Amino acid sequence: MTEIKVILSGVGGVGRNVTRLLSARQDFRIVTAYSRNPTLAGQDLGVLAGIEPLGVEVTGNREVALVEPADVLIVATTSFLREVAVDLRAGVEHGLNVITTAEEAAFPWLTDVPLSEELDQLSQARQVSILGVGLNPGFIFDALLLTATGVAWDVQRIQVRRVVDISRFSATIQRRLGIGFSQAEFEAGVKTGSITGHIGFPQSFALAAKCLGRTLERIEKTFEPLIAERAYINQHIGVEAGQTGGFIQRSTGLVNGQPWISAEFVAHVDPPAVGFTPADAISIEGYNPLDMTIRPGCNPQLGTAAMVANCIPRVIEARPGLLTVADLALPHARFSLNF
Ligand SMILES: NC(=O)c1ccc[n+]([C@@H]2O[C@H](COP(=O)([O-])OP(=O)(O)OC[C@H]3O[C@@H](n4cnc5c(N)ncnc54)[C@H](OP(=O)(O)O)[C@@H]3O)[C@@H](O)[C@H]2O)c1
Repeated sequence: MTEIKVILSGVGGVGRNVTRLLSARQDFRIVTAYSRNPTLAGQDLGVLAGIEPLGVEVTGNREVALVEPADVLIVATTSFLREVAVDLRAGVEHGLNVITTAEEAAFPWLTDVPLSEELDQLSQARQVSILGVGLNPGFIFDALLLTATGVAWDVQRIQVRRVVDISRFSATIQRRLGIGFSQAEFEAGVKTGSITGHIGFPQSFALAAKCLGRTLERIEKTFEPLIAERAYINQHIGVEAGQTGGFIQRSTGLVNGQPWISAEFVAHVDPPAVGFTPADAISIEGYNPLDMTIRPGCNPQLGTAAMVANCIPRVIEARPGLLTVADLALPHARFSLNF
């Protein structure tokens, strides 16, 4: 099989796990990586990822990285479409297919229609594709949910629930999610937008509605902190008693004035300590109902890296344009000799 050459933008948690996974597969090679973080420049990507040196130095310069001949650019930097758009455009201009884990890119039309149209036209003109994907959004309540509806006669209502341990996300992400704040700081951060909670359910809802032929009228949301009764410390941040150790987010998408799709997302730095067990659940109501629970829940770090890696061949073979995971042939794992 021909080797697939990959460039990475962003060498945080996702970038490092993607490095570990692709390095263990013989048909992929990461040719270069770039990061805005000046402390990473000049470091060996393999060493950063906790594996053997790969002889690939991280650069701080996007243009230097993008002149390397490659097939795919993976952008794992931020959650926001407008922020990753610079990388998406640059990758496409260099003739690369682009995959990003930015949650807003999982269904980009929800955030910015003109920008989505521009990216669609640009990628079509260059005969490459752009895909926003990950675990959530991207897999659990998108690819997996839609696959599960493959055995449904109709879909009257969808309910999903995810309980997740967020302690392994970087300090930047845990803080942005809303961890380690007093209740007042949490409320103020939610108001200003510096605390977002999980981003991605509206994107999963919009994709499900589009594929299942429903028009979402609006999405109602609630976002409550879970105040820690004791201190927690993880490899990235500490939480004191009285600060936020987690949160519960509920989202409901309405069709014809009625709830059609709803999600409950429970995130905590130590879910079992507060009585929650990590798991993912999907319930599809209709003539032929289906309930499924995945235990112990999809691992956010390993699952995201796997979904990104397993989508690479799919994106290369997909039609050009701005795509969602529903436009791809089924992404699946590949046997690897090195694991
Ligand atoms: N769809 C999904 O299921 C899914 C799953 C996992 C992650 N994600 C998203 O993917 C993104 C990356 O996740 P991660 O765990 O790798 O995050 P991370 O560990 O915080 O690493 C992100 C890296 O990108 C850099 N960065 C942050 N904002 C940037 C920007 N605006 N432009 C350029 N570089 C930027 C950071 O630099 P500094 O070190 O200088 O901050 C850091 O090196 C996050 O937004 C996360 O929410 C999505």
